Amino acid sequence: MDPKWWLLIHLSGVLGLLGSHGASMAVLFKLRRERDRTRIEHLLQLSGSTVIPLYVSLALLLTGGIVGGIDGHFFWQRWITLSLIVLAITMIVMYAIAMPYYKRIREALGVRPSGVPRVSDEELEALLGSAKSTVVAVVGFGGFLIILYLMIWKPGIV
Ligand code: HEM
Repeated sequence: MDPKWWLLIHLSGVLGLLGSHGASMAVLFKLRRERDRTRIEHLLQLSGSTVIPLYVSLALLLTGGIVGGIDGHFFWQRWITLSLIVLAITMIVMYAIAMPYYKRIREALGVRPSGVPRVSDEELEALLGSAKSTVVAVVGFGGFLIILYLMIWKPGIV
């Protein structure tokens, strides 16, 4: 098979990742200023609805990258291993911080059987303005940029 097909699959995965995860990225920034509970819920639903395309994109990105690398006999090169490590760290931070953070906001939007919100407006505001969203953005964009750097410059080829 022409190795360019693996590159096409890999880059389609990158495009899919940016397209699908872009919704979660935009929601992250929008939530910092949003105070309307119904709109917050809709934004969280929008982010949650992009999870399947995100995983399909990650699968394409990894399949194209790994199989293409093995096929082209350059999979052993250090920049690919480093890219995979940075991707894994980024995903671990997403699971450890981004997902629980959104889960807490979802829970905070709940109402008691009496109809009173579980969390006061002040508590919700503090949660939405939390530094966690900055950590997620810095690690997410940082991880992506480091991977781009490794893909373009391929440092440390030995
Ligand atoms: C290489 C870059 C990135 C990768 C591989 C990545 C991957 C992931 C993964 C696998 C999840 C878990 C999805 C789930 O099962 O619910 C996730 C969640 C999330 N990510 Fe990223 N991410 C990246 C960059 C970013 C960036 C740049 C931002 C924000 C500026 C971001 C914000 C979020 C948020 C807010 C969630 C929670 C989504 C939800 O629960 O609805 N990510 N990410």
